[in-house]
Amino acid sequence: MYRFRRLRQDGRIRSIMQETRLHPKDFIYPIFVTEGENIRNPVESMPGVYQYSIDRLDEILVRVKEADIGGVMLFGIPTQKDPQGSQAYAEDGITQRAVRYMKENYPEIYIVVDICLCEYTSHGHCGMVCGEEILNDETLPFLVKMAVSLAEAGADMAAPSDMMDGRVAAIREGLDLAGFTQMPIMAYSAKFASAYYGPFRDAAHSAPEFGDRKSYQMDFANGQEALREIAADIEEGADIVMVKPALAYLDVLKEAALTFDVPLAVYNVSGEYAMVKAAAANGWIDEKRIVTENLTAMKRAGAKVIITYHALDAVGWLG
Ligand code: PBG
Ligand code: ZN
Repeated sequence: MYRFRRLRQDGRIRSIMQETRLHPKDFIYPIFVTEGENIRNPVESMPGVYQYSIDRLDEILVRVKEADIGGVMLFGIPTQKDPQGSQAYAEDGITQRAVRYMKENYPEIYIVVDICLCEYTSHGHCGMVCGEEILNDETLPFLVKMAVSLAEAGADMAAPSDMMDGRVAAIREGLDLAGFTQMPIMAYSAKFASAYYGPFRDAAHSAPEFGDRKSYQMDFANGQEALREIAADIEEGADIVMVKPALAYLDVLKEAALTFDVPLAVYNVSGEYAMVKAAAANGWIDEKRIVTENLTAMKRAGAKVIITYHALDAVGWLG
């Protein structure tokens, strides 16, 4: 009999043997920025998460800076929406202004911007629409415009989440032509059509007006196809590829880690956060221990980058 318990018998040896250790720099914290003034709106289904107007962003950015995490991911919530999502690539769009504000006041914070149109379109879909159809190729130039405009505002990394085919190549070419050859792309590559995005759509006001996202986001039954999506995005020039959501998809993440030699990200999404917060609020689980266990599992499965609403709390728990 081999005695595994020798290396488990007290905290000192367990700490030496620990294979996976979380670090503040592992985390990217999503922030919702809304138009208007003096706003700090709680997101009902995501306790601890708020929509901030730019004049109150300091309240959260001070904490981000203090926690010294990897960075933030910005989601803009415009007041004005139209079928083309024009506020997504407007020079004075809400996200562009938030990026400029951060560049000026928090130059040390790394800014990832989500590239997608659903928060900005009146129909709430991630691309251009004709009747009930979500158009692919017609959408690409708009995504490129959005990425370039946010790069011009000073964003550090572009993260396309729309799931149109060919968008990574299009955005790479657009960024390069505009002189942003150094801006990395983190592609939401294996992004599944998931019920776990429910709370986010309340937070970002991005629920589709008709139909669903199944004609562009992936079927959650498909693991092989996820690997093909990832391979395609790497081929198109993605610097980091993502699996989303996290917990129900750790098999996909692990498979990707074994298959590809590129940095992987995982998005611990809004519904995953909401479930943990709800159970914790009821006293049914220990939030600190559950969150630490979940985030460690994501890293153990192969994630280099973890996008999570728990980021700031988790840093406090790392000890
Ligand atoms: C926009 C986008 C979504 C999320 C990230 N970017 C929502 C969606 O695709 O409907 C989900 C994030 C979360 O649930 O936390 N396309
Ligand atoms: Zn979208």
